[in-house]
Amino acid sequence: MKIAVVGTGYVGLVTGTCFAETGNRVTCVDIDVTKIEKLKSGVITIYEPGLDVLFDRNIKEGRLLFTTNLAEGIKDAEVIFLALPTPPGEDGSADLKYILKVADDLGPLLADYAVIVDKSTVPVGTAEKVHARIAKNAKVEFDVVSNPEFLREGVAVEDFMKPDRVVIGTNSEKARKVMNKLYAPLVRQGNPVIFMDERSAEMTKYAANAFLATKITFMNEIANLCEKVGANVDDIRRGIGTDSRIGKRFLFAGIGYGGSCFPKDVQALHKTSEEYAYDFKILEAVMGVNENQKTKLLPKIKQYFNHDLSGKTIAVWGLAFKPYTDDIREAPALENIKELVAAGANVRAYDPEAMENVKRILGDQIVYTNSPYEALEGADALFIVTEWPEFRSPEFERISSLLKNKVIFDGRNVFELDQMRELGYTYYSIGRDVVA
Ligand code: UDX
Repeated sequence: MKIAVVGTGYVGLVTGTCFAETGNRVTCVDIDVTKIEKLKSGVITIYEPGLDVLFDRNIKEGRLLFTTNLAEGIKDAEVIFLALPTPPGEDGSADLKYILKVADDLGPLLADYAVIVDKSTVPVGTAEKVHARIAKNAKVEFDVVSNPEFLREGVAVEDFMKPDRVVIGTNSEKARKVMNKLYAPLVRQGNPVIFMDERSAEMTKYAANAFLATKITFMNEIANLCEKVGANVDDIRRGIGTDSRIGKRFLFAGIGYGGSCFPKDVQALHKTSEEYAYDFKILEAVMGVNENQKTKLLPKIKQYFNHDLSGKTIAVWGLAFKPYTDDIREAPALENIKELVAAGANVRAYDPEAMENVKRILGDQIVYTNSPYEALEGADALFIVTEWPEFRSPEFERISSLLKNKVIFDGRNVFELDQMRELGYTYYSIGRDVVA
């Protein structure tokens, strides 16, 4: 099939590349000239494991094309994906200006029936708005469908190629056929394509992310209580996760969720409920608890150093909001580092992927190192913020020889308590006893 993807951000580029991989001819459109030039010359603009191989192959085979010209990009396209940013406005609601602008531009350009697909996470009712804006100028028949993405950064290619489910919101039989054909290669294993109306599809995306954010937050609250009653949250996780009604995943307590989706989507759903005069109490709690959770270890660090961090050096392992990404949006690392620096501490940080992005925000307020061990040089404590696999089995002798104090603050429960006891560390983690 011939398809177009408008917007070459994270979602757009993954969508375009993966649909090219299943044999479609895909043209990606973006107004950013520099970005399109880069992509055209074969340089990938996002970090996502495995995507580069698909990107190279499909460019070489002529199935993945790039342009800044919308008319050229959508020419003959049966399906036009809108993968545009929906940043939160000042009041927390998603700002639709980019999507609606493209909808305005699309109307007069459509030459034949096309399915326009909202791929971005957009508030309930957006498909109708997009439809109305295109209809103002369109001379041909078209449908607007909602097809939310459920990609996780770091495993996006796998999530795209083998989705648990595909959700498509449309009441049009014609659009349904087109979307079924497009997704058929991805659901051969029998995972469902679930059809529903546009509003329900839009709501499904928010419900999924808000539920997962709530699940994590619930465990974080259990963890906070575990610390008080002397229980171990990791045991609780195993104890409840084996109940298939609860499920094993997304039960890891830590210093809060971050990223580009959960914080934004929880906030946007809360805003929607406000607009409809519904008091969505859980969401309010989730947002509040997560905000506190992000800096949960700071009082413990401060207390350990008798409330005086001036001149102390803290080694920070991990800056990205989670492993396998260079994304630092809403990353707990940023808030923690800012507070440490404000309290007079020196920070030496290491992250395998995210340091360049942090440099752009924090500049030379902290020291960036080439390895986790270099971060420990002259440090008074180690603070683990992101659970990159390389931090899981470190050379403990090297750590203790470099650290001034054998103390670790672990925001992701990377180590076992027994292990820390045997190695003689003072060890603070989340929802577990302190090893002193
Ligand atoms: C999420 C959704 O999973 C995905 O379906 C949606 O399309 C986009 O948002 P992503 O933001 O890439 O994906 O990250 P995800 O792997 O879901 O993790 C989100 C956050 O939750 C991270 O900060 C992670 O550290 C945190 N998390 C996750 C926990 O704290 N505990 C867990 O058990 C799981």
